[in-house]
Amino acid sequence: MRKNIVAGNWKMNKDFFQAQQLLTQILSYTRNSQPSCEVMVAPPALYTSMAVDLLETSGVKVLTQDVSAHQSGAFTGEISASMIKSLSAFGSLVGHSERRQYHGETDSHCNRKIKNLLEEGLTPIYCNGETLEQRRSGQHFEIVKNQTEVALFSLSAEEIVKVVIAYEPVWAIGTGETASPQQAQEIHKHIRTLIASKYGDNVAQEISILYGGSVKPDNAKEIFSQEDIDGGLIGGAALEVTDFAKIIEAFS
Ligand code: G3P
Repeated sequence: MRKNIVAGNWKMNKDFFQAQQLLTQILSYTRNSQPSCEVMVAPPALYTSMAVDLLETSGVKVLTQDVSAHQSGAFTGEISASMIKSLSAFGSLVGHSERRQYHGETDSHCNRKIKNLLEEGLTPIYCNGETLEQRRSGQHFEIVKNQTEVALFSLSAEEIVKVVIAYEPVWAIGTGETASPQQAQEIHKHIRTLIASKYGDNVAQEISILYGGSVKPDNAKEIFSQEDIDGGLIGGAALEVTDFAKIIEAFS
């Protein structure tokens, strides 16, 4: 179901007490404001249980930032989809560019991670996007096409409609250099057209495609107003409740 979503990716930030404080602030905000979009948070995995407990009555969904490509076993440090489900979390980010950059993750890994999440009834937030070099050389459409096909096109129509996609041009992440609304829209439309070509228009119109990369309170409304953009995956601005709230209110 295509929904408007604002999701915060906290990355590796906040100690336990700072995380508890921000979660409590988000709980208070959502209780007093009734957001007109779905709100999700992806705190560091250590805080998943606390986030689920604190946000239980708020409607805010809790995500992890990664999930193992394996089911269980000798994979030190990894977190399985069944573990995430056992904590009553909603789903997980998959394939964030920082996982690809620092941990060598590929779209084949993403495909296995996505299938593991779907098997547990969890929601994958599949991240893709081109690097600055790829954009400058005009490869961005082909790169995103290949990422999308490898990670998603072995799924059935019933499976892919459960996936949220997040297009995050790597050159816009954490740089303050946001993609223009037009730059973002053209790739979102490209992704939706690719999905429509394979699965049909009805399926393509069911899938939420978020934009990520320096979304801030002052640019969110214009970005989210684009035809094929269904919300944002927010990094830095998700770490302060006031900025996160202003981005959520871009949908009001
Ligand atoms: O996953 C979202 C993140 O990569 C975007 O970061 O700080 O540019 O909003 P930021």
